[in-house]
Amino acid sequence: MPQTARISKAVIPAAGLGTRFLPATKAMPKEMLPVVDEPAIQYVVAEAARAGLDNVLMVTGRSKRALEDHFDRVPTLEAVLEAKGDERRLAAVQESNNLGDIHYVRQSDPKGLGHAVLCAKWHVGDEPFAVLLGDDLIDAQDGLLAEMIRVQEATGGSVIALMEVEPEKISAYGCADVTVIEGEDHVRVNGLVEKPAPAEAPSNLAVIGRYVLHPAVFEVLERTEPGRGGEIQLTDALQELATREDDGGGVYAVVFRGRRYDTGDKLSYLKAVVTLAVEREDLAELRPWLKEFSAAL
Ligand code: UTP
Repeated sequence: MPQTARISKAVIPAAGLGTRFLPATKAMPKEMLPVVDEPAIQYVVAEAARAGLDNVLMVTGRSKRALEDHFDRVPTLEAVLEAKGDERRLAAVQESNNLGDIHYVRQSDPKGLGHAVLCAKWHVGDEPFAVLLGDDLIDAQDGLLAEMIRVQEATGGSVIALMEVEPEKISAYGCADVTVIEGEDHVRVNGLVEKPAPAEAPSNLAVIGRYVLHPAVFEVLERTEPGRGGEIQLTDALQELATREDDGGGVYAVVFRGRRYDTGDKLSYLKAVVTLAVEREDLAELRPWLKEFSAAL
C-alpha cells in the first residue's frame, strides 16, 4: 500500500572488515579512505542529505572512533583556522558536521550486510528507510536515491538499484531476475541470487549499494540463516520479499546508468580518485600530467 509519510531515515553500514584493502584497513575503516580530500563515507552521507534523508544511522564496528570523530566538531582545529583567517579550510572542516543528525549503532560481530541492516531495527521502527553502503560511491550529479524513494512511495514495496555489468563480472555481485514495468530502467524483481557463476546468472544486472526498504525486511532478516560466505545476506531477505504479495512484499528496481565506484576495491577506488580529481579546479595540473604519464606507459 502506498505510504504518505516522507522517508527521512538513512542507514549506512560501515562495519565490514575491509579485507580487500588490507593492510590499509587494519586499524582504520575502509569508509575513511580519502577520495581526493574527503573520506568516502562523507560523499555517501552528503548524498543522503541531498535526497532529504537527514536522520542517519551509521552501523559501525571496530575502529568506530575515526568515523564518529569525522562527523563531530573539532573546536581546537576550528579556532586555529579561524585565527589564521583560513575560511576555505574552516568551511571544509565544518561541512561534515552539518550533514544531518548522525546516530551510531555498533555491530559487534561483522556477520554480514543483512545483519548490519538488522542492527538498525530499533532506530528505524515501522517506516520505510534507505540503506546506503558506506563504501559505494555514486556520482553526485545523479538523482538515483530520490528516484528510488519515488518508486518506493508509489509501490509500497522495497526498491533496489541495479547496474549492468559485463557478464563475466556478475559473480562479484548480487544478481537480479527482472521484468520491465516502466521504460527499461524501472523493473520488478522476480528473484535475486548472491554472487552467481556467470553460467547460472539470470541477467547481467548487478545489485549496487543503494536500497529503499519496507520495514517488513527486519522480520525476514531475523529468521534469515547465514548464507553465502557464512554471512547473513540482505539479498536472501530481499529474495523472500520479492516473492511475497502481502503488505511489505514486492521488490522493484531502478537501473542506474551513471558513474559508481566500489571504494572497498583497490582498482575501483583508484579510478574514483582519478576521476574526481581531474574534475577539480584546484588540481588542474593533474590532467596534463596524466596525459604525459599515460603517453609514456
Ligand atoms: P562488503 O562486503 O563490501 O564489506 O560490504 P567487507 O566485508 O568489509 O569487504 P571485504 O570483502 O572484507 O573487503 C558492503 C558494505 O557493508 C558493510 C561494509 O562496511 C560495507 O560498507 N558491512 C559488511 C557491514 O557493515 N557489516 C558486515 O558484517 C558486512
